[in-house]
Amino acid sequence: MRKILVAGNWKLNGSLAGNEALVSGILAGMSNVQNADVAVCPPYPYLPQVRDLLSGSAVKLGSQDNSEHEQGAYTGEVAAPMLKEIGCHYAIVGHSERRSLYGETDAITASKFEAAQKAGLVPILCVGELLEERENGTTEEVVARQLDAVVDLVGIAAMANSVIAYEPVWAIGTGKTASPEQAQAVHEFIRSRIAAQDAGVAEGLQILYGGSVKPDNAAELFAKPDIDGGLIGGASLNAEDFLGICTAAN
Ligand code: PGA
Repeated sequence: MRKILVAGNWKLNGSLAGNEALVSGILAGMSNVQNADVAVCPPYPYLPQVRDLLSGSAVKLGSQDNSEHEQGAYTGEVAAPMLKEIGCHYAIVGHSERRSLYGETDAITASKFEAAQKAGLVPILCVGELLEERENGTTEEVVARQLDAVVDLVGIAAMANSVIAYEPVWAIGTGKTASPEQAQAVHEFIRSRIAAQDAGVAEGLQILYGGSVKPDNAAELFAKPDIDGGLIGGASLNAEDFLGICTAAN
């Protein structure tokens, strides 16, 4: 039985005071969260602050990205070993905003995934189609390409130590959620593609859904057999909403 994971992606939001209020709000409600693992992914400069705020709790820390490089002359980059050293457990890689706004290709995403794992982080690999790709019927082709780029680089066994997040780009931050049936169909596709290479890895793999998950649609999504939690953007910035999603797994 796979456990539900709810991870908050704070994106480019936060401040020392705001983070403190948000984390204390989340921690205050954690005793009601019975069936979900929980993580938050703040912007880089706040990782040590949030790590300290989370200390002693079950909530894990994650980054929103990591460099594909380990060290060297890469101005502005943050390396996976640094994130590990500072206390991260997870690292989001290949988020659609990184892909679309910063030109990150499947190959770069795969290298970032590999770098995260090499440093001992658990990568949360984001995949998902654009609206036009859904409309022209190439959703599975796109998701397969994004997935294969990683599996081909790291090998199927390495996928056991990762999380996948299916995030249809047209549902991110738009208030438009994929229906539970639409999401389930893609999650099933992802799992079966992994299963074609290793059934055991596929069975254990947490596949999260992301894209306008809110407290009022989370339970229906998480009830689907291949949806193992959520990657939450907007609703992760409000403690009550985030907790409402975490308790949807109860
Ligand atoms: P959203 O973002 O929940 O605001 O749609 C999800 C994501 O980008 O991970």
